[in-house]
Amino acid sequence: LMLLAALAAPPEFNYDEAEVPDYTLPDVLGDADSPEDWPGRRAEIVRLFEQHVYGVAPPAPEKVTFETRSKTVDAGDGREVEWRTVTITNQTPSGPFTHEVEVFLPAGASAKKPVGSFALIRYTPRSKDPIAPDEPERGYCPWGPITAAGYAVAVVYVDDVAPDDKTRFDSKLLKAYGMDGERPLDGCGALAAWGWAASRFVDYCEQAEDLDAGRVAVLGHSRAGKAAWWAGVRDDRFSIVISNNSGCGGAALSRRRFGETVARINSSFPHWFCPQFDAYNGNEDALPIDQHMLAAAVAPRAVYVASAAEDAWADPRGEFLSLVEANPAFELFGDPALRPEDRPEVGGTVVRGRRGSHLRPGGHGLERFDWDRYLEFAAAYWGEEIK
Ligand code: GCU
Repeated sequence: LMLLAALAAPPEFNYDEAEVPDYTLPDVLGDADSPEDWPGRRAEIVRLFEQHVYGVAPPAPEKVTFETRSKTVDAGDGREVEWRTVTITNQTPSGPFTHEVEVFLPAGASAKKPVGSFALIRYTPRSKDPIAPDEPERGYCPWGPITAAGYAVAVVYVDDVAPDDKTRFDSKLLKAYGMDGERPLDGCGALAAWGWAASRFVDYCEQAEDLDAGRVAVLGHSRAGKAAWWAGVRDDRFSIVISNNSGCGGAALSRRRFGETVARINSSFPHWFCPQFDAYNGNEDALPIDQHMLAAAVAPRAVYVASAAEDAWADPRGEFLSLVEANPAFELFGDPALRPEDRPEVGGTVVRGRRGSHLRPGGHGLERFDWDRYLEFAAAYWGEEIK
């Protein structure tokens, strides 16, 4: 009996490229064939991902207010950097709901010279691993080099929005919106709730004079990369959407079933996605979408996929192929096509129009190598010089 059960169960992961099945991806453009048609098609894609993958996030709050407190910290290279904690208070049906973002701003940021920024979604509770004002070269968030390049970085803490825990993820934001407890098939998962929090940082940029709301990149690592990949699609105020090793449920194509699979991720992390996503366990070909359609839905904004050579669990090839398969949308806007053979060698980078990618040596992580590529890509896309 156990053997039969094992045979019937969908494979939970695969590390053999030869075992990747043949698959046909859903069409990116549908009936759209011009830039004018694209917003309509984009809206359809967003709706499909809400229904089948991530669930419907709470609406933007009717009212959101900000309180800040600042300190000046030393970037270690003679520069002063402002370390600003932003307490965000959202008006929700059950009253005020607050969460926090920590921003490191270069000294030159002002109303006359608002700066571009990176919204970094961070799921680790701040209490467990605080971002320290005396660590400008901190691995996952090197705020010294980022501010030296002329940008701000905002750490969007999401543990106080939707804890990364299947029994408590709905106990904060979703509860405030009456969306906790038993979920409908398209009920909001934790990843969408995290993205909602990142959007509140853009709200803040819209009213903060020294941050440019037109130049905000969103990123996250791994599970937070999945959240960023979706957040950047939903909220088109993000100018650049970056996937850092986001893998299954992020940039990687689900139909490749390489590394982590839909069945596996749903059994380990049932709170990340909507209940309907379970219908695709071992049944990826039934998905009306695949993850390349999120890369496509970023168009005509910019999208970047970062993979790590030894991060097989996240399917580095499948992450890159999402970018390639987004061709039809980017070509609508005059961008050149990206081909599978453009995939960078280990240590290499490729940029085609509004799309970029690199393959970092080593394993799963958000490292200085990744950040240096993001700074270069942002500067090029935003038409700036790295200082
Ligand atoms: C697990 C999970 C991945 C996820 C990763 C992470 O490995 O299976 O989907 O990306 O955790 O968040 O580091």
